[in-house]
Amino acid sequence: MNKISIIGCGFVGLCLAVVSASKGIKTIAVDNDVEKINKIKMGITPFYEPKLKELLDKTLNNNLEISTDIKKAIINSDITFVTVGTPANLDGSMNLDFIKSSTNEIATILREKGEYHLTVIKSTVLPTTTNDVVKPLLENVSMKKVGTDIGLVMNPEFLREGSAITDTENPHLIVIGSNDNKSSEILELFYRELYGNTKEIIKTSTNNAELIKYANNSFLATKISFINSIANICQKIPNTDINVIADAIGKDPRIGNLFLNAGPGYGGSCFPKDVNALIHFSKQLGYDPILISATNEVNNQQAIKVLELIKTVGKIDEMNISILGLAFKKDTDDIRESVSIKLIKYLLDINANVSVHDPMAIENSRKIYGDKIKFYDKIEDCLYSSDCCVVMTDWDEYKELEQSSFKNMKKITIIDARRILNKEKFNRDVKFIAIGTN
Ligand code: UGA
Repeated sequence: MNKISIIGCGFVGLCLAVVSASKGIKTIAVDNDVEKINKIKMGITPFYEPKLKELLDKTLNNNLEISTDIKKAIINSDITFVTVGTPANLDGSMNLDFIKSSTNEIATILREKGEYHLTVIKSTVLPTTTNDVVKPLLENVSMKKVGTDIGLVMNPEFLREGSAITDTENPHLIVIGSNDNKSSEILELFYRELYGNTKEIIKTSTNNAELIKYANNSFLATKISFINSIANICQKIPNTDINVIADAIGKDPRIGNLFLNAGPGYGGSCFPKDVNALIHFSKQLGYDPILISATNEVNNQQAIKVLELIKTVGKIDEMNISILGLAFKKDTDDIRESVSIKLIKYLLDINANVSVHDPMAIENSRKIYGDKIKFYDKIEDCLYSSDCCVVMTDWDEYKELEQSSFKNMKKITIIDARRILNKEKFNRDVKFIAIGTN
């Protein structure tokens, strides 16, 4: 059975590490962030993710080793997964610094390693990166040849934050992008060990594998911007409701009912970054991808739509505004590119008095807003003396809210920017405004 190493203990790396170790595969996960590694070694997860802590406790020192020693990790494994970040540069293009430095480190160690070793790029990278950037660097520094002495695969990841462990345990598809058979066969064997014969595997070129990831994320982002556009049209027409429309069109199997939830726009560390990177990359190639640019533009404007709804309630600088939800989606403490964080900035720019609640993301948000806004652990406290409550994240506990939960407000006015509240639970005294309905 193969032993694996993983470089980068972010969502993708750490989740793969605990899942593979839990299936009996010897796994070494490394990161150059010493503080992070020390925490993980003590069983402290660096971010919140359902089921992660439980699996970490189970696997730590039991098939799973956590380390900062990349050399030891490469020498003692057969396959190395690179799961480092590929952040955006200021112009929206992709920053490959971490990919290049990890490749360089791996290659330096492989120069001395006798046995065949497979490097797997799992980070999201633009088409041609694996073949034109990673491969030459790997070959030149290791002084070995991909396809014979060493292997290289591009293997995109489709997990979602908030269900990262479940998605890693049960992926809908495995894409193996390689330009040589030996590399792809070794990785296929690894995945067969991990999942048995149950998972569909697509074997293709590295360029295809890279573009599959961007096409996947851009399509999903486009679905969201599409439904948000229809929601904004609904806003102008009496007796329309985006939920009814999404439900109806979702029954057409050619459309499908998933990812049609209208809201304040998509956020997170992936969709905004990947959509922007694909636009930038495509323009560089001489093609202006106007549909994908429109997806991005609709999304950039959607926070303003929420702001416009708040303005219908009263003058922003004269109101106490309570925001429920800071995380970019439920079941995570991640606020990267969160639309809620963006909305708060707009509100503060117009001197609003803002109170916030989130079950998980307060600590991260405090780092951005400090004492500029008031943070509350309890929903009731956040709503105390408020003029307007805006629901920005789809947390399950917000779905359960009823009229009595809002009794501390001056006058109950709710803006449901996520379409998760049940309107039936509120009587006529409540001013209820929601995205995508008039
Ligand atoms: C996304 C993809 O779904 C994953 O397949 C991919 O692996 C990942 O990016 C990545 O590239 O790493 P993630 O960003 O974790 O996963 O979360 P999603 O569940 O896709 O949600 C993204 C954003 O879209 C959130 O802000 C969410 O609230 C929003 N969204 C989602 C909507 O506004 N409406 C929907 O119907 C669905």
